[in-house]
Amino acid sequence: MSPVHQFHQDDVLVLTIDNPPVNALSPGVPEGLHAGLDVAEQDDRIWAVVIIGAGRTFVAGADIRTFDLPPEQSPDLRGVIDRLDSFGLLTVAAIHGAALGGGLELALACTFRVAVPGAQLGLPEVRLGVLPGAGGTQRLPRVVGVQKALEMMLSGNSVGAEEAETLGLIDDLIDGDLLTGAMSFARANVGNPPLPRVSKQKVKGGSPELFAAARAGLGKTHKGQYSPDLIVDLVELATHKPFAEGYAAEKKKFMQALASPQSRGLRRLFFAERAVGKVPGLSKDTPLTEINTVGIIGAGTMGGGIAMNFLNVGIPVTIVETTQEALDRGLGIIRTNYEGTVRKGRLSQAEMDRRLSLLTPTLSLDALSGADLVIEAVFEAMAVKREIFARLDAIAKPGAILASNTSTLDVNEIARSTRRPESVIGLHFFSPANVMKLLEIVRGAATSDTVLATCLSLARRINKVGVVVGVCDGFVGNRMVGRYGDEARKLAEEGAAPEQIDAAMHDLGLPMGPFEMSDMAGLDVGYLIRQHQARVAGAPKPGGWLDRLVEEGRKGQKTGGGIYDYPAGRTPVPSPHTAALLDTYRHEQAVSPRTIDADEITRRLIASLVGEGAQILDEGIALRSGDIDVIYVYGYGFPAYRGGPMGYADEVGLASVVADLERFGSVPAPLLKRLADEGKTFGEWDKERGRG
Ligand code: 3HC
Repeated sequence: MSPVHQFHQDDVLVLTIDNPPVNALSPGVPEGLHAGLDVAEQDDRIWAVVIIGAGRTFVAGADIRTFDLPPEQSPDLRGVIDRLDSFGLLTVAAIHGAALGGGLELALACTFRVAVPGAQLGLPEVRLGVLPGAGGTQRLPRVVGVQKALEMMLSGNSVGAEEAETLGLIDDLIDGDLLTGAMSFARANVGNPPLPRVSKQKVKGGSPELFAAARAGLGKTHKGQYSPDLIVDLVELATHKPFAEGYAAEKKKFMQALASPQSRGLRRLFFAERAVGKVPGLSKDTPLTEINTVGIIGAGTMGGGIAMNFLNVGIPVTIVETTQEALDRGLGIIRTNYEGTVRKGRLSQAEMDRRLSLLTPTLSLDALSGADLVIEAVFEAMAVKREIFARLDAIAKPGAILASNTSTLDVNEIARSTRRPESVIGLHFFSPANVMKLLEIVRGAATSDTVLATCLSLARRINKVGVVVGVCDGFVGNRMVGRYGDEARKLAEEGAAPEQIDAAMHDLGLPMGPFEMSDMAGLDVGYLIRQHQARVAGAPKPGGWLDRLVEEGRKGQKTGGGIYDYPAGRTPVPSPHTAALLDTYRHEQAVSPRTIDADEITRRLIASLVGEGAQILDEGIALRSGDIDVIYVYGYGFPAYRGGPMGYADEVGLASVVADLERFGSVPAPLLKRLADEGKTFGEWDKERGRG
């Protein structure tokens, strides 16, 4: 059956795009629209065509899943758009939900656009590493002007229907039933020729200065990205070339962007982000626990940040500390954070007051007896956590979820200190917890499906991307970063300067290199982890020169010096002290420093991440390679346009990663070796197991 249904009422033909879930322009949709337009042309009674979407939305754009198809199998969106652009009858796009990408481009080729309040219109292609490829770069500036068009296409942000009406992007805002309103609008405008065509309008605005400023801004907002420049070029072209010329150029550039590794990486992330909520074996119908109140133990930086997530969405929080002083300090930090947001104009004073009124500070753990969810966010020591969970077990109501914000410790051991291990889970927030989008949801051996499903749903409610991971030291993110940090440390031992190592990661698009990150987190954190690991393994796991820095009291930014010096605030400056310490260390270890180039640094650091990631997959700690990428993009700033570390490895080829690991003395995980030998990618492996 065609995904486009037709019916006509008197003189109006209605074409309903019905391609769930979001009416993407998949194969069959352009054909269905053509068939409808054929009918409209052949039936003398019909004077107007209304195009509308079934279900929850108008059209969310081209079907991203078809982007890798050969051109002859790809849906011919441009064909139907061209036909609409010169169609002899009046056409109205009736928009609810979202008109995004190709959806908005389809609407822009109609003679009129109407929408219900709350509808969203936008061209988000840049987020997929491409650009509007069905006329958007040429038509949007003709309607909303160059400046607004650039703003929309470069940010990918959509505008609401009300703003769209002000901008002239829609011709009428329909209160009430959209289809009825769209048909009335069509009838009211039939017989008022000539039919308006966006392609025939003049581009509004645009000066050489404006384009120069737009290009200059990209260095900050879209550093290293390929498609934003193309968007600016095409909009500029629209200002001085006929529509047809700009339109032809757009097609060419769209295909170039589509073929770029950046677009592959961003598309991989798009689907990976949507897959993380799907846990094999966890039924969609799993009953959820209602979370109406949250208790948090510990009002330190983490506890306070975690609390804000719930306050922000209207969930009351009781926060517990052991001393009044610590409680006051924690509340002070929360208040200061909110005040900063109010000062920036992003939050009203009234809303800040409302959020703070939902917060109950207390010194009594007993106050958590009514909480639906309790999150422990205290010092990272097993003995302390076990004691707290044992006490919680006696206090918390039956069915309450008991979560630990541990970043490394064994959640199963924590669970065993209660008589209800099925209620225990890890919720690993990333610092600053009120800002970072990532939440590792650590599923213990006994964690119940209800607890897991509730935490996944809660993650969405508090605007986090929740990724389910298994129990191991450091889970996914910190375990990989540990391995990466070790490799960085070795590179420095062998002769690379710390700033050279960090610079290689900047060049890859990471905001921080491994040493800047360590200095920010505090070198003592890694130091304590190494000590802990050494105790568990019963063998020393030396941090070499890094341990020396900590033992000297250089713990990073917080002590004004670590690997780098910090003479002015948080800006790292290469440290002569660290350079001398490294020299001494190398001398003692009988290492003759060698020159190490950026290529080797990048290869080794990436191979270390990917090697550990593959091991994590092999052990089942992460469900799919895409989950690891989501963790690395949202938790560690790995550039999304590189597809995350596993996506990046797929791009460079797993055989090359294996060769790098072997060349630099590491043993590749069996899974990585096998996939490399078979010439496969992690993405293919995910798909083979039905998880892609
Ligand atoms: N193509 C294919 N599948 C799509 C899709 C698209 N354009 N948009 C969404 N989907 C799928 C998702 O993968 C998901 O599938 P799943 O259920 O199997 O996981 C399902 O639709 C629902 O998506 P969400 O979970 O994201 O649903 P939300 O309600 O949270 O969000 C949305 C809906 C706002 C439409 C969001 O999906 C979205 O932003 N989609 C992408 C929009 C976009 O980027 N459009 C431009 C495409 S490129 C283009 O049009 C090129 C053109 O210029 C030639």
